[in-house]
Amino acid sequence: MKNLVLVLLLGALGAPAQPAVAQATAQAAAAAYPLLTNVPNRPSQSLDGAWRILIDPMENGYYSYRYVPSPNGFFKNQKPKDKSDLVEYDFDTAEQLQVPGDWNTQREKLFLYEGTVWYKKSFAFHKTAGKREFLYFGAANYDAKVYLNGEKLGEHTGGFTPFNFEVGDRLKEGENFVVVKVDNTRHRTDIPTNNSDWWNFGGLTRSVQLVETPETFVRDAFVQLKKGSADEVAGWVQVDGGARAQPVTVSIPEARWQATVTPNAAGYATFSGRVKRLERWGPGHPRRYRVQVRSGQDTYQDSIGFRTIETRGNDILLNGQSVYLRGICLHEVAPMTGGRVTTVDEDRTLLHWAQELHCNFVRLAHYPHNEAMIREAERLGILVWSEIPVYWTIEWENPAVYANASQQLADMITRDHNRAAVILWSVANETPPGAPRLKFLSGLAGQVRALDPTRLVTGALEIHTSEAGVRTIDDPLGQYLDVIGMNNYCGWYGGTPESCGDLQWKNTYDKPVVMSEYGGGAQQGRHGPADERWTEEYQTAVFENNFKMLDKIPFLRGASPWVLMDFRSPRRPLPDIQDFYNRKGLLSERGVRKQAFFSLQEYYRRKQQQWQKPGK
Ligand code: GCU
Repeated sequence: MKNLVLVLLLGALGAPAQPAVAQATAQAAAAAYPLLTNVPNRPSQSLDGAWRILIDPMENGYYSYRYVPSPNGFFKNQKPKDKSDLVEYDFDTAEQLQVPGDWNTQREKLFLYEGTVWYKKSFAFHKTAGKREFLYFGAANYDAKVYLNGEKLGEHTGGFTPFNFEVGDRLKEGENFVVVKVDNTRHRTDIPTNNSDWWNFGGLTRSVQLVETPETFVRDAFVQLKKGSADEVAGWVQVDGGARAQPVTVSIPEARWQATVTPNAAGYATFSGRVKRLERWGPGHPRRYRVQVRSGQDTYQDSIGFRTIETRGNDILLNGQSVYLRGICLHEVAPMTGGRVTTVDEDRTLLHWAQELHCNFVRLAHYPHNEAMIREAERLGILVWSEIPVYWTIEWENPAVYANASQQLADMITRDHNRAAVILWSVANETPPGAPRLKFLSGLAGQVRALDPTRLVTGALEIHTSEAGVRTIDDPLGQYLDVIGMNNYCGWYGGTPESCGDLQWKNTYDKPVVMSEYGGGAQQGRHGPADERWTEEYQTAVFENNFKMLDKIPFLRGASPWVLMDFRSPRRPLPDIQDFYNRKGLLSERGVRKQAFFSLQEYYRRKQQQWQKPGK
């Protein structure tokens, strides 16, 4: 302890701080609290809006000039003690960014910026006796370090999943301030890696809330139809707090169903019980029920849809009926701004375009989208493929990389495991075959089944062995999946559009296949012969010929062509055509429909009619 005091004194005198101070600072941080769930239905104070920011490319606000973490970084939000005092930053006269929102599309100078931006928000707080408070982040891309009133709360890695810290004992009555260091620098050992086909939007990209709960509260509950059962509700509850072992009642009042359980010492209990009248949720009838989970002072309340999803041979059975997934892929990017989605209205616009295409399914690529998107899909009756960004060439043999992927998977499932719309959890996209990759991904597939036995496991695979005119689905990962996703760009990355109609497909698995990507690019408004790349006519030829191919695949149970709307990508620089946009959208980034939009719309209209006829 003596050394530490000496070091602290030296540190205060301006000598370069030693590592010991860094460790002490780090150890003082609070551990991140287990993920809160159902946050939209909990009382909370929004911290959204304008935040002060400091752009910090050298991380000067975090490291001393000897490049060790400084105890007096920007997170202290220091002010000069007097007119001679030296403080070389000031949040309160700094510029502001909107939260939620990426920084790239809010400032021209930040469009290509990769590095650290510091965010700071002051807020008033008034304590309510008997309540607990949590600082909850919908997401921050990519690394976040969080401080409250100058003290570190903790850190989070990953750009698309929520995280939270209990803060009750660190909040002050009246004025408080929160500072977050967000760093979107890409690394080879990240999830995703430094190589992806979407824009690296940095920042506090989703909502920030101060969530309030009773001292004892239902942190999480899983309420669904039991796997393989059509008339039994089953699940579990997790209660936190001193009185966590008190009885808990789970009820669905409109169905006159309830179960009362007594959690164990850890606050956990399972439940199940037959239910007589429970209308199934599904496309066309998105019936949801008010579900209440009561423990003492806390009532956890959510609107939940009940449905079954399973496979039988090549079929996907939704509520016992074979379903064909008329889908589309989409990124979490907003029309017009081309930045990260920040409002539920933007979610609705994207989903309404999917409905206009006669879709009953969306593949939310390539990472967990915002929670409101999933809840909107459920409200509209649209089925969802949800995915973690295990994308392309991951460092398969690095345990820290696996731990990161596993954490993102767990947080995605925890957040959305009561959303009937989600039928598929995807563990990967276009990953190259090999033993380390198979071990990594089969582990994640096993984790999905352990966390959520009610849904299906999938992944978007590629063809690795192909002979002329024949595509054989034989990726060894298929043995660990329930539904095989297959990305195949006939007519764009290989072959002519006209060649696609003759492609034959073989499936080594007796499992359903979804063509999780196909398509081609076009610049909206560019017209010419159908064999001229980048014209709308060429894109239409790609779609029309892929339809011929798809209709000949007997084990196909859906498709989600790439992609609903043009989106920004650093991999697409072609001047005057791409200009840093991936142009495979059926709509331009300004929401203008290309010819192929109407081709797919007509194809799905026919598919919807055909599939409803028995025997199809
Ligand atoms: C890949 C990948 C997408 C990418 C697309 C393309 O299949 O999954 O993320 O944008 O192809 O090349 O446009």
